[in-house]
Amino acid sequence: MELKASNISFSYNKKRQILKDFSLSINSNQIIGLMGDSGSGKSTLCKILAGYITHYSGKVTLDGNEIPDKGFYPVQLIFQHPEKTMNPKWKMKKILNESWTPPKELKDTFGLKDQWLTRWPNELSGGELQRFSILRAINPETKFIIADEISTMLDAVTQVQIWEKLINHAKANNIGILAVSHDHELLEVICDDILFFDEINNL
Ligand SMILES: Nc1ncnc2c1ncn2[C@@H]1O[C@H](COP(=O)(O)OP(=O)(O)O)[C@@H](O)[C@H]1O
Ligand SMILES: [Mg+2]
Repeated sequence: MELKASNISFSYNKKRQILKDFSLSINSNQIIGLMGDSGSGKSTLCKILAGYITHYSGKVTLDGNEIPDKGFYPVQLIFQHPEKTMNPKWKMKKILNESWTPPKELKDTFGLKDQWLTRWPNELSGGELQRFSILRAINPETKFIIADEISTMLDAVTQVQIWEKLINHAKANNIGILAVSHDHELLEVICDDILFFDEINNL
């Protein structure tokens, strides 16, 4: 399967254009890195790819078809700050099962402890919450994952561990990943290829 962004242009307001004629393509069997400076528009692009922003010009397609916005969205975004995407009034079990009910072995793979399920989001660390975000994102219907600085808040050991598991899962299930980061060393380790944001953005 191919996720393709073609000639995406976008601005939040008249003062500044963020994306201009931005194009990229990812295949299901690939982990593609995207490097760029802070404030350049990486997260904005991620939101467009995952269907959170819809008022852009250009096209996002899966195997040439535009993605319908009803039902489960096959392009899943994992954010840098997991707490911002979780309802603080829901316990973790409900937050996880909102997407799907992962089997025990998958919860174990990502080090998700059963005792966390009865807690509120503010009773877990950023790294613990991010494991929930990842499990939510690897719903069986997911075709691509957009990982926006997902391990920035983790210590180096946990960072490598989580990426290793996520990549193993993606490779085994034919899920393509766009890994967005300002950390070139990390991308060198985990990615098949690295793209540079400023080189693709035609501002
Ligand atoms: N909702 C928004 N409204 C207006 N400007 C925004 C909004 N979100 C982000 N921006 C601005 O757009 C630019 C790109 O932001 P972002 O995509 O988050 O960059 P990056 O992820 O590369 O750091 C920044 O200057 C940011 O301040
Ligand atoms: Mg960002």
